[in-house]
Amino acid sequence: MEISGKTKIVGIFGYPVKHTLSPIMHNAAFTDLGIPYVYLPFEVKPENLKEAIAAIRVLRLAGINLTVPHKIEAIRYLDEITREGELIGSINTIQNKDGKLIGHNTDGKGFVASLKEDLGFNPKDKHVLLLGASGSGRAILVELLLQGAKSIVISNRTVSRGIGLVQEFSKKFSKSTLSFTPLSDLKKKVSFSQIDLLINSTSLGMKGEEFPDLPLPSLPPASIVYDIIYSPLKTKLIEAADRLGLVTKNGLGMLLHQGSLSFQIWTQRRPSLKIMQNAIIEAINKPGEG
Ligand SMILES: NC(=O)c1ccc[n+]([C@@H]2O[C@H](COP(=O)([O-])OP(=O)(O)OC[C@H]3O[C@@H](n4cnc5c(N)ncnc54)[C@H](OP(=O)(O)O)[C@@H]3O)[C@@H](O)[C@H]2O)c1
Repeated sequence: MEISGKTKIVGIFGYPVKHTLSPIMHNAAFTDLGIPYVYLPFEVKPENLKEAIAAIRVLRLAGINLTVPHKIEAIRYLDEITREGELIGSINTIQNKDGKLIGHNTDGKGFVASLKEDLGFNPKDKHVLLLGASGSGRAILVELLLQGAKSIVISNRTVSRGIGLVQEFSKKFSKSTLSFTPLSDLKKKVSFSQIDLLINSTSLGMKGEEFPDLPLPSLPPASIVYDIIYSPLKTKLIEAADRLGLVTKNGLGMLLHQGSLSFQIWTQRRPSLKIMQNAIIEAINKPGEG
């Protein structure tokens, strides 16, 4: 990658930021397209976020991704937020449009793009079981509602968080049926034979854990099991669904599509998902990374 006076800078603000795979993914795609951009990691402490965002204007950075712990707090320092960003209540992408800072959330959109483009699955009028109710679960929930999912059962270990989501979004999306079931009651209370799409948005599985009492054999044969975890690439949940012959997908799809959407917001160019994927898989497989 050649750096010149014309190079445009994008990057990521996080604290910590060392673990991020985004520079690898984006820089591979910039090089592939031969466009004058570079993607850098910026370790920004929470107390410095306001100044860091002001610096986007001053330094004329083309755009920024946000990761933990900045996704919610950043909203107050921006000029405009997209509808998704407002509904989700957090953003992962800042666009610098001639000095105007616009906040986007591409996580949920990236997830749905992966469903549609990688699996040919349109969530409109479908029945969904969403495990997890934290940041990524919330982003996925909002996008599935915007896409017209017929019913969504949210299931989470901490009951208040799951019920909170149902209460917040039931009125805003009255055409979809939203309900909550504690993780521990799934087997008893949810009819798995009706589910078209099961999503794991919890972190359970990152360390090789299993979901106890998940009646996967009751899912319809054509249903999809989507685990948004991408490290490891095959969680115990995916392995179990694979053994049953269900359609499965790991979190790499969502990661790539949310990155691709940010890339397009900044550059108006579409990156090669294959190039991004190869770069990420190489990094995940490197000892000490991923
Ligand atoms: N593919 C992608 O692009 C992408 C994007 C973002 C995140 N992710 C992955 O998504 C996962 C979630 O990330 P996040 O930032 O949204 O939230 P997080 O804070 O990492 O995960 C919290 C969620 O996991 C649940 N959870 C944690 N430990 C559990 C356990 N032992 N048993 C049952 N539930 C448990 C929490 O339930 P409680 O509410 O009960 O605590 C909560 O719903 C991570 O693995 C992350 O790597 C992937």
